[in-house]
Amino acid sequence: MKKLVMIACLITLFVQGTNAQQKLFKESDEQKKERMAWWVNDRFGMFIHWGLYALPARHEWVKNQERITDENYQKYFDNFNPDLYNPREWAKMAKAAGMKYAVITSKHHEGFCLFDSKFTDYKAVNTPIGRDLLKEWVEAFRAEGLKIGFYYSLIDWHHPDFTVDSRHSQRTDDKAKLAELNKNRDMSKYREYLHNQVRELLTNYGKIDMLWLDFSYPGENGKGHQDWDSEKLIKMVRHLQPAILVNDRLDLKEYDDGWDFTTPEQYKVSKWPEVNGKRVHWETCQTFSGSWGYYRDEHTWKDTKQLLVLLIESVSKGGNLLLNVGPTARGTFDERAEKALTSMGNWMKWNNRSIYGCTQAPDEFKAPDNSLLTYNLKTNRLYIHLLDYPLQNFNLPGYAGKVKYAQFLHDASEIKITQRVEHGTREGESSGNLNLSLPVTKPNVEIPVIELILK
Ligand code: GLC
Repeated sequence: MKKLVMIACLITLFVQGTNAQQKLFKESDEQKKERMAWWVNDRFGMFIHWGLYALPARHEWVKNQERITDENYQKYFDNFNPDLYNPREWAKMAKAAGMKYAVITSKHHEGFCLFDSKFTDYKAVNTPIGRDLLKEWVEAFRAEGLKIGFYYSLIDWHHPDFTVDSRHSQRTDDKAKLAELNKNRDMSKYREYLHNQVRELLTNYGKIDMLWLDFSYPGENGKGHQDWDSEKLIKMVRHLQPAILVNDRLDLKEYDDGWDFTTPEQYKVSKWPEVNGKRVHWETCQTFSGSWGYYRDEHTWKDTKQLLVLLIESVSKGGNLLLNVGPTARGTFDERAEKALTSMGNWMKWNNRSIYGCTQAPDEFKAPDNSLLTYNLKTNRLYIHLLDYPLQNFNLPGYAGKVKYAQFLHDASEIKITQRVEHGTREGESSGNLNLSLPVTKPNVEIPVIELILK
């Protein structure tokens, strides 16, 4: 018996082991690199959470948090009329902030669709605004040269066949009540709906650069890849849009190619994330304040410096930042969001060279205190972001002999270099310090950047 158990364990281990190597597609590493090249270069995107929850204006999970029934949620649908909606303005603001791509909620967990879907009546076209808002959005953002991404919620608290589970807005601990609620629900019908809608999204709106599916919570009373039939779904996605990038929330982590990038949400990674010892593509998604949807009374807004540090730090660890705006029910960005975007844009205008095309610096360069490094492999330039402006004699240990020229990025003004030779080492040795002579007064830039042209 014991032997049998051991053999079973070994088989499981073996299967798990080989699963890690499993592939769904025949794409070489080189082909994947090419497919992801724009995204690795662009680094900075806009997330947009917009739906009926903009009306209650107290979190996009409001239906769930307050256990609002479909009947009571209906007033938001009946009053959805974003009369000032002008996605060209949104796109211009995103572009001016330095963002290169954008991802919008075509449907969030509440189930409401911004797009005109054949498979539901629960969509913007049937509200007072009466238009396919997604179509206008795609056209506007494309016209500004931004890449197009669709967020689509796997979860749906409105669809009558989506079974009530641990995270549903109608969840209950009462087993009998749960069984009653789920009596007539058929997940296979919902699954079909989900596949149909994703097909619509990837067929009716031209080239889509990214699909952001959200989210899986496998396990007891949860939902995962079997519920969505994720394998079939991702095959369809890649068939319809071969160049598309897909995030990692389909519960397909055991496949090397079941996802393109990982999505740490609302936290800073301590280092470049790895899977099986290999660095992976990643994008952190973050909010300006504590909610994704428009939240009128939420006041914990990050300041400009915090936002810029989020962006720079992501790039310094080889990742991207997807920064969220929650437009109001009038269809506009509120004043606070506008201000935040403008201030980021003011910095990006002069300093974006340290972001686009950049990544983590080679290990031989250590970041001086209170600074963040990024590096452009193509141009062989290193960027030192001064989070806390230092004194005149700025010392870079180990940089001696490696730098041809130094300047501020924002105005290309020279920063004088003096090669300091440590006692006992010879000029040019890599252990030597490099000394930069900085102006005493901090340049009028939120986070000044030193550009080092390397040898
Ligand atoms: C979470 C939340 C959701 C938000 C998303 C963004 O999964 O459920 O409200 O859209 O994160 O990453």
